[in-house]
Amino acid sequence: MTEPSTWEQILDFSHRANPYPLYAELRKTPVTLLPDGSYLVSTYAEISSLLHDPRVSSDVSLNPAAAEAGAGGEAGMSPTFLNMDPPDHDRFRRIAMRNFGPPHAPGRVAGLEPRMAEIVAELIDDLQGKTRIDIVDDLAYPLPVTVICELLGVPPGDERRFRVWVDAALESTDPRLDSEAQQQKRVEAGQELRAFMEELVETHRQSPGNDLLSAMDSDDGPEGRMPAEQLVGTGLLLLIAGHETTVNLIANGALTLLRHPDVLHRLRNDPDLVIPMVEELLRYEPPVHFVPFRTALDNIDIGGTTIPKGAGITLVLAAGNRDPEQFPEPDLFIPERKNNGHLGFGGGIHLCVGAPLARLEAQIALTEFALRLQNPRLVTDPPPYRPSPFLRGPRHLAADIDGVAVPTPGKEPGLTPQTR
Ligand code: HEM
Repeated sequence: MTEPSTWEQILDFSHRANPYPLYAELRKTPVTLLPDGSYLVSTYAEISSLLHDPRVSSDVSLNPAAAEAGAGGEAGMSPTFLNMDPPDHDRFRRIAMRNFGPPHAPGRVAGLEPRMAEIVAELIDDLQGKTRIDIVDDLAYPLPVTVICELLGVPPGDERRFRVWVDAALESTDPRLDSEAQQQKRVEAGQELRAFMEELVETHRQSPGNDLLSAMDSDDGPEGRMPAEQLVGTGLLLLIAGHETTVNLIANGALTLLRHPDVLHRLRNDPDLVIPMVEELLRYEPPVHFVPFRTALDNIDIGGTTIPKGAGITLVLAAGNRDPEQFPEPDLFIPERKNNGHLGFGGGIHLCVGAPLARLEAQIALTEFALRLQNPRLVTDPPPYRPSPFLRGPRHLAADIDGVAVPTPGKEPGLTPQTR
């Protein structure tokens, strides 16, 4: 039997808890040809260059592996601007962005800060009397899902409906399943999610509210109206991207703090540290490990190799984030690291739309975690992981605590300038 390749080992669930030594191995060849004819890119400079290269397409219909994996639309999900190139990408992204943040909707995210602080405070209050908690179920999951539902105008209680389908869609990326089982899970989940969002869009059309879906639907800006099909796709993209990734940022953050009690102690005494610390987390333990299904539109000379026109490309963001050429001592967690140009939110024209929201949620959740949980200790290290190799984070994160402190006046996150 032949040895599994480094990439096969990275995909293998047994390496989910610590893929970083394998990423170091991968970086020895910055651009690697895989047996299926696609290319992996694992070094910072090369990933960064390709993220900004117009010869690299995100159009999944051009990528044979994407069609095989069901990412091309047959799973009931129409392509969104995440999987488009200019000019369509730019047009639909602009309609979403205009309603999501400054200058047209400056209050949309920033205005949520007090509400986020309130949700976190309630979640932590609910832990009173417990000695063992699950940081994923008790904090990291409920915060982002509540926030994105309120932002989009998803009624309270609907989370229970879509949770099952989102889980099934994500589990379909589990490399341990055969491709037929993956495909079936994805198609079923995709159809259910689509029907759910179509119903929601229709409800908002009948009676518009002060939410993002209603705002995108009624936008008569310079790009014109977003077609109904796109609105459903964009709604789903925001709903799923808007919480699945942030759950991992908060859970990976809490795990990293529990593994570095000195930093937890410093954060308790200096809540301002949370701002650079969240950036360092996005480098050190990023929620999104790679960006798959890019396609070369031309021959591209990079890293001593020519990626031929038509070949698939996977950008291994998490490997680039630990590249010693870019980050001195990359395997150390240094919360105040300077010049941290991490790849955690991608880069170029597809740079994450939700970065300001995700940052704020993680800053508030991790500050409150440090200030209020007394003597938290990790129960299992490493914790059990979720199956996905590219949306990577703990499935559960058990911690023992001695108690829950009452909020310190003036130190509550969201109420002071420190967390902004
Ligand atoms: C810690 C949390 C998050 C991480 C690590 C993250 C990461 C990323 C990454 C790496 C990309 C680039 C994908 C690519 O180049 O193909 C991306 C794009 C995107 N993200 Fe996020 N994301 C997070 C939170 C969010 C949130 C909260 C939202 C929405 C509310 C969101 C919405 C999007 C959208 C719509 C895109 C597509 C942008 C485009 O194609 O122009 N993300 N995100």
